[in-house]
Amino acid sequence: TAPYAPLVRRIEAEASVDGQILRIDHFLNHRIEPAFIFELAHELAKRLSAFQPNLILTAEASGIAPALIVAQTLSVPMVYAKKYSRQVEAPALSRLIHSPTKGDDNRLVISGRYIKPGQRVVIVDDFLANGRTAAALIDMAREAGAQVLGAGFVVEKCFKHGRQFIESLGVPVSTLAQVEHLDNGRAILTQPRDE
Ligand code: G4P
Ligand code: NA
Ligand code: NA
Repeated sequence: TAPYAPLVRRIEAEASVDGQILRIDHFLNHRIEPAFIFELAHELAKRLSAFQPNLILTAEASGIAPALIVAQTLSVPMVYAKKYSRQVEAPALSRLIHSPTKGDDNRLVISGRYIKPGQRVVIVDDFLANGRTAAALIDMAREAGAQVLGAGFVVEKCFKHGRQFIESLGVPVSTLAQVEHLDNGRAILTQPRDE
């Protein structure tokens, strides 16, 4: 979980802070820079490869870009839980998640056809905040009989408690940038060593 210097530097130089939300829409959450996402996902894949997953699992929408490239790097398929189109081939796995940032509930749905008993699953997503999304993905994968070996996120908000929550479920967490706090419109990040 060491900070990945190129990401830390870009967040420090370019992110805007909107209350408790870190905005990096221009390279991760709205506009996508393929070369940079490739670099980030490649680094995450390196950290997750020891789990020898045979499936990467994420959620719509912002998880798809990094998860796809992690999956490609590790030569395994990627499945994303659907949030906007809830009809999937039966049997369906589904969980309701309360989103404090949006103030409403989201339903995530995965077709049980695409997660099989005994599969080795690794979760990938853009942000780890409270960890509710990741916990729902872990729970659905386990309901399908799969093993969840680890989880990787591009950005971790350390002042939320997602890491403790996910690790309490027996899933080790790896992240590329750790936001310690958001103060007066500024993001304070854990600093990379040797710089
Ligand atoms: P949790 O899943 O970790 O419990 O987090 P929470 O409910 O707090 O977050 C809900 C949504 O907001 C998630 O996106 C999450 O990625 C996003 N989010 C949380 N904190 C930040 C932040 O500081 N910056 C940005 N840009 N996003 C944040 P989602 O509901 O999965 O939506 P989508 O954008 O992937 O469709
Ligand atoms: Na997300
Ligand atoms: Na998001």
